[in-house]
Amino acid sequence: VIDVALTPADLRPSDVAVVIDVLRATSTATQALAAGYHSVLFADSFERARGLRAPGRILAGERRCVKPTGFDQGNSPLEAIERRGDELVLATTNGAPAIIAATRHAPTVLLACLLNLGAVVEALSDWAHRPHFDLQIVCSGTDRVPALEDVYLAGRLSALLGGERGDTARIAEAVGRAYARPFDALTDSADAGVLRTAGMTDDIAYCARESTLDVVPRVRSASSGVSVVARGDAEAP
Ligand code: MLT
Repeated sequence: VIDVALTPADLRPSDVAVVIDVLRATSTATQALAAGYHSVLFADSFERARGLRAPGRILAGERRCVKPTGFDQGNSPLEAIERRGDELVLATTNGAPAIIAATRHAPTVLLACLLNLGAVVEALSDWAHRPHFDLQIVCSGTDRVPALEDVYLAGRLSALLGGERGDTARIAEAVGRAYARPFDALTDSADAGVLRTAGMTDDIAYCARESTLDVVPRVRSASSGVSVVARGDAEAP
């Protein structure tokens, strides 16, 4: 069955969790791995991220969309196009905690965004038609409230995978059908408004690009407030 956690509060045990934070944490992580970073270390706090500082590591993150003091860059996929080190340490308000929480509920955790939608569908499609298939799509939301852009992508992903689905997946699919283009869904969201106010309009258009990156980020390890994510494109869930 496929169902959708509209926020991380709805996480349940599943075989595979696919975590979404379209604006912008999963988009930034996907872009960073596509740029050649070996891994992205999601940290549950700025303090944790600062403690991870080491040669070859770039600190990235945001508070209210803006780069925290002392960090190397913000949580922008545009800033992750150019690789500046071996590992990106990423501390964000909603996406990072959602990914870390998902590792407590599912043995396999993948990250999705519009940029890698096709690659995620490809990675899951064989498996999605097997009996006892159990997938939860997890929307990071914003401050414990569902975020339109995450529910939109959850619905697009659910519809593309097919198979048995629960009502939360049907709700998300209805949102997915409601917009002609990804860009329309993203620009309609409250999170896009925050980015516009912060002067980051270009990030919205970038995160709305669909299936441009052949990268499936996958959690490799999780411990004490840090989840390490690397490419898992060629692996079955
Ligand atoms: C988050 O994790 O809360 C988001 O990715 C916020 C942002 O757009 O930077």
